[in-house]
Amino acid sequence: LQKLRSLHRRTSLDVSHSEAVQEACKPLELSDDNLRTIMDRMEKSYQKGLSKEGAPTAAVKMLPSFVRSVPNGSENGNFLALDLGGTNFRVLLIRIDNTECEMTSKIFRVPESIMRGSGTKLFDHIAECLAKFIEEHDLVNKEKLPLGFTFSFPCQQYGLTCAKLVNWTKGFKCSGVEGNDVVQMLREACHRRGDIDIDVVAVLNDTTGTMMACAFKENSCNIGVICGTGSNACYMERLDRIPKIEGECNPAEDGLPAEMCVNTEWGGFGDDGALSEFFTEFDKILDEATINKGHQLFEKMVSGMYLGEIVRIILEHLAREGHLFGGDVDAIAQRGCFPTKFLSEIEGVYRFHPTFPAALDKKIDELLDENIEFQLMLSEDGSGRGAALVAAVATRMKQESAA
Ligand code: GLC
Repeated sequence: LQKLRSLHRRTSLDVSHSEAVQEACKPLELSDDNLRTIMDRMEKSYQKGLSKEGAPTAAVKMLPSFVRSVPNGSENGNFLALDLGGTNFRVLLIRIDNTECEMTSKIFRVPESIMRGSGTKLFDHIAECLAKFIEEHDLVNKEKLPLGFTFSFPCQQYGLTCAKLVNWTKGFKCSGVEGNDVVQMLREACHRRGDIDIDVVAVLNDTTGTMMACAFKENSCNIGVICGTGSNACYMERLDRIPKIEGECNPAEDGLPAEMCVNTEWGGFGDDGALSEFFTEFDKILDEATINKGHQLFEKMVSGMYLGEIVRIILEHLAREGHLFGGDVDAIAQRGCFPTKFLSEIEGVYRFHPTFPAALDKKIDELLDENIEFQLMLSEDGSGRGAALVAAVATRMKQESAA
């Protein structure tokens, strides 16, 4: 009887702990109605970002990319691509032959001292990696290859080769870059070295690259989404629905389609309070400790750079309340001690997960209007490949208009 009693006591204690855990996690659960409210507000944020009057103060920036067309299958040639967007930087050499795309690449680390140092040092580092790559691949003193630069931060573009950084995201904070043209900074860094000469034909966001890489395989692809260190999306929009760039593009004159890829920068969704009732106490604690407090709130709620820390904050809270680790808070109190990769080991999100793609597909289907059809497609190495593809489309168009 005593044994039974003690077992009963232990079990009821366990049940109360597990109930407390579930209770703490409740604010993180979203009903379909909640999701519809969020969709609705996101669409309103899009409209504001696209409009002339709303754009200057919009939380979702809706940045024009000047990419007006997806590949049509007649692109050819060798291209260089640079891909900067996280703790790694990549240089790629890509051969495009109509419907085939072959590539070799090299990854270089971006040390934290460079991520938070001066902009000049960052671009010197990029130029140094590029110079090494060019030498290793025997491209020195050969024909100058067109280069596509994937720069995965919010940029105000003034054409395909001019992109001024609006603000850093994802833990980067190099001085002297915000407000400046990153293509120009790259050219200047190459110039300072004197041993490499580059021909930048396109600068783009990783979402655009991703969409282009998928469109290369499946021409009807019109939306690109990144669920990585950061989170973002782009899509092809009709020019007449982007009032803020009215008059800047003239399809009748340039012969290009009357549409443009728009980089939404949805990571900033909620920075104007649009997500306030979904922003939990845990989200607040996380945001407080970031270097861009109050910014990129949606991104901080969902993306890879922050997920591990959100889980750690919840675990710490539960340990403090005595529901986990026998109340031993020290084990989990250190910021950053629970990296996102632990989470991926429990749940990896799209590519290698046994049920996630189907669940995502089902939820989108439930939330969308019945008359909208969609198909999800996994992008393979979109940000690198996409840079070469945008460069290839730009080169093809230049050749066509010269002919
Ligand atoms: C951040 C950047 C955005 C990028 C995304 C995914 O949200 O601001 O430009 O697309 O991360 O890398």
